[in-house]
Amino acid sequence: MITINENYLKLQASYLFSDIAKRVAAFQENNPETDVIKLGIGDVTKGLPQACIKAFHQAVDEMADDSSFRGYGPEQGYDFLREAIAVNDFQSRGADISADEIFVSDGAKCDTGNIQELFTEDITIAIPDPVYPVYLDTNVMAGRTGHFDNGRYEGIVYLNSTQENGFVPSIPKEKVDLIYLCFPNNPTGSTISKDELKKWVDYARDNKALILFDAAYEAFIRDDSLPKSIFEIEGAREVAIEFRSFSKSAGFTGTRCAFTVVPKECRAYDSQGVIHQIHEFWNRRHCTKFNGVSYPVQRAAEAVYSEEGKGQTVELIQYYLRNANLICNEIEALGYQYDGGKNSPYIWIDGRRDSWDFFDMLLNEAGVVCTPGAGFGSCGEGYIRISAFNSYENVEEAMRRIAEKLK
Ligand code: MLT
Repeated sequence: MITINENYLKLQASYLFSDIAKRVAAFQENNPETDVIKLGIGDVTKGLPQACIKAFHQAVDEMADDSSFRGYGPEQGYDFLREAIAVNDFQSRGADISADEIFVSDGAKCDTGNIQELFTEDITIAIPDPVYPVYLDTNVMAGRTGHFDNGRYEGIVYLNSTQENGFVPSIPKEKVDLIYLCFPNNPTGSTISKDELKKWVDYARDNKALILFDAAYEAFIRDDSLPKSIFEIEGAREVAIEFRSFSKSAGFTGTRCAFTVVPKECRAYDSQGVIHQIHEFWNRRHCTKFNGVSYPVQRAAEAVYSEEGKGQTVELIQYYLRNANLICNEIEALGYQYDGGKNSPYIWIDGRRDSWDFFDMLLNEAGVVCTPGAGFGSCGEGYIRISAFNSYENVEEAMRRIAEKLK
C-alpha cells in the first residue's frame, strides 16, 4: 500500500499566492469589464535588459551549431557565471567568496525550500513572523513541526517582526539550530544594519547554529551603509548560507536563474559532534537532483555583470523604486502607517483592519490586487503588502483608485 506523507495534511489550504490567484481569477470571471491591476505577488513586468537579450540570442545561436553546441553543463553552473558573481556581487564589497562556493540554480524559492533536507528532523527552527511562506511550509512538509494551532505551527520558534522592533526580529531567548533571515525583507520591506546582522552571526557562532540568509532583494538597497550580503559580516562564513536571485534584480522571474552561496567553512555536526562541510553535502545533493540551468540562461545572467548590463539593471531597479516611492507618498497622504518601499520593492501597510477584508475590499471595489499580511503569518494580521512591480502608469491608476476608496 502506498502511504502518503501525512505532514502535508498539516499544511494550511493552498500556497498563499495560488490562493490569491484563485480569488483574482474568480473576481475577473464575474467582472470581465474590470481592468484588474496586480500589485500582489512580486512578479516583474518589464522586459529583460537588452544586454541579457543579446547574450541570450547569441547563446541560442551557439546551440544550433555542432561546433559550439553544449549538452549537460556543470551542475553547479558554468565557471563564466560563477566567476562573474563572485567578483561583482561579493569580492567587490569585501566579502570573501570564491566562484566554487557558488551554486547556480533555477530559483531561490527552490533552494530555500530544498536546503532543509540536509538537516535532521529534530532541529529547532527559528522563523520570522511575518515570513515568506516557503521557509515554513517546506519544514512542515519535512515533519519538523507539530500541528497548526491558533495561527501557528507547534514546535517552531517564531521571531516576531512588528512595528515595535522596526520589523527586525530580536535574537531568541532559547537555543535554536536553524535561523531564517530575509533582508531586505519580504514581506515587510525592512532592512537590517551591519551591527544587527553581526548579532545574529555571533549568536549562530555561539550556539553552533546556521543562518539561512535570503538576499533576493539586495539589488534594491540604495543606502550604502546596509549590508547586501551576510558575508560582509565578519565570522559569517562558518555559520551562514546565502540565497540570491536574478528574478527581481534583472527581471528573470520567467527566465529562471538564481544562486546559493555555501562557503567551504560553513559547518554542521553529526550525532557524534563531528564537523561536516555543508558545501560538500549541498554539492552532493545538487549533483544528484539537479542538472544545471540551461546554457543560454546562464549566458543571459552573465550579461547582467557586463558594463552595459550593470547600467540597464540599475535602470530597472530605479524604475520599480520610483513606483515604490509613489505608493509610499500616496499611502502617507492617506494617513496610513507603512514600512519598506525605500530599499525594497514592497510596502507594508498597517490597514487598521482584518487583512483579508482589506484585500477583498481593494479587489472588489478598486480592482487592485495586494497581498494580505495574514497570509505571511499571524504578526501580519492587520497589514497588507503592496508590490511596486508593475508599470508606473498602472501604479498611478491603482493608487488613484485606492485613494478614492480610503479617503
Ligand atoms: C512574493 O511575492 O513574495 C514573491 O514574488 C514570491 C516569490 O518570489 O516566490
